[in-house]
Amino acid sequence: MSPDTPQAPRGTQDVLGELAAGFHLVEEAARRRFEPAGFRRIETPAFEDTALFARGVGESTDVVQKEMYTFTDAGGRSLTLRPEGTASVARAYLEHGMHKLPQPVKLWYLSSFFRYEKPQAGRYRQFWQIGVEAIGSEDPAVDAEVIVLLATLLDDLEARGIRLRIASLGTPETRAAYRSELQAHLRTHADQLSEEVRGRIDLNPLRAFDSDHSGTREVMRTAPLLVDRLTEDDRAHFDAVLAMLDAADVPYEIDPTLVRGLDYYTRTVFEFTSDALGAQSGVGGGGRYDGLIELIGGAPTPGVGWAAGIERILLAAGGVPAADTPADLFVAYEPGRRADAFTVVTHTRRAGRAAQMELAGRSLKGQLKQAGRSGARFVAVLREDGSVLQDTETNDEVPMERDADGIVAAVLRNLGI
Ligand code: HAM
Repeated sequence: MSPDTPQAPRGTQDVLGELAAGFHLVEEAARRRFEPAGFRRIETPAFEDTALFARGVGESTDVVQKEMYTFTDAGGRSLTLRPEGTASVARAYLEHGMHKLPQPVKLWYLSSFFRYEKPQAGRYRQFWQIGVEAIGSEDPAVDAEVIVLLATLLDDLEARGIRLRIASLGTPETRAAYRSELQAHLRTHADQLSEEVRGRIDLNPLRAFDSDHSGTREVMRTAPLLVDRLTEDDRAHFDAVLAMLDAADVPYEIDPTLVRGLDYYTRTVFEFTSDALGAQSGVGGGGRYDGLIELIGGAPTPGVGWAAGIERILLAAGGVPAADTPADLFVAYEPGRRADAFTVVTHTRRAGRAAQMELAGRSLKGQLKQAGRSGARFVAVLREDGSVLQDTETNDEVPMERDADGIVAAVLRNLGI
């Protein structure tokens, strides 16, 4: 490679080999669990109007302030590569009048997302999420249903060291009152806070709970907690969610300081972490967003969902076994039989079987070695002076007719077609 050969941009990676096999595994596991639970697939555009994320995710969030890939297209529009999926799905719900469908509307996605973050293990600038959104019901059973779904998926995929933390943020009104109370507490102790936290008292006081700064941590020990300020309705909603998780045998820890990085959350919020991961321990997270649809221009509509990072699920699962499909048939040939070999492979594949042929110009001897490596059950050897079909299990070798049609018939018969 010459030094100016382009490489994948920082924070991105090619999905191939074991990683590609892992992606496939996650997708299959998800489909197996989500579709029977009534979730249908959705794919939204990779970019949206910048305003959707600015309004939906929240102007004060790190995602909107620092992490968006925003550009102006040739038509002068401000567009942004999606940093997350919930705002896009909410937009699609509105745009397609999905409120007319039976509620809640349940959707799932597997897509790549883009955030300008500092790359490290488990943190990328283009990453993949699997996610679900259930829009149109405020029933706590929906919260519990989506949480159980993620717990089950992580279990199916054998993710290690999984813990679920959960909290309730209440309604925007409760949160606003609590926010003022917290801001007052932070201002009273401003001289003990880190500069960063002090600078964000107005914009995002809740982030103080996230700080590693020792002075700030000390101040937060005596800070008021939102769970103690919930209204009766919100408390009852939260208790109902917890009761259903108990009934489903999904263990959780209530974490009154749980902070999610996105502004649209109301009531339930939760996060699954894995001890098997390093600093980026968040495997998946989500919550309720009862104000989001209204915020982007719709009628008040409740919703709840989550997203989980596919790379992080696979890291937590400790890799996946390489599962290459072994071929049913390998076709080896002498140069003059190339066209016949191609015909045999094509017909075998059309019949639904896995067939491979020599494609790298190897000698017949090299081809037979390659056939062994492919693990194919049958090997057809097409020579100028006749063809045989070898059964690699029994070591039987049967002669076949010379013409391609005769070979195809013999192969399919032997493959049991
Ligand atoms: P989030 O917590 O920002 O939530 O992201 C969800 C998951 O995506 C994280 O737990 C993590 O596994 C993965 N993730 C996030 N950023 C990165 C990154 N830079 N590199 C690798 N993985 C990453 C949301 O995105 C919400 N839309 C979830 C949601 C759905 N809430 C309600 N519905």
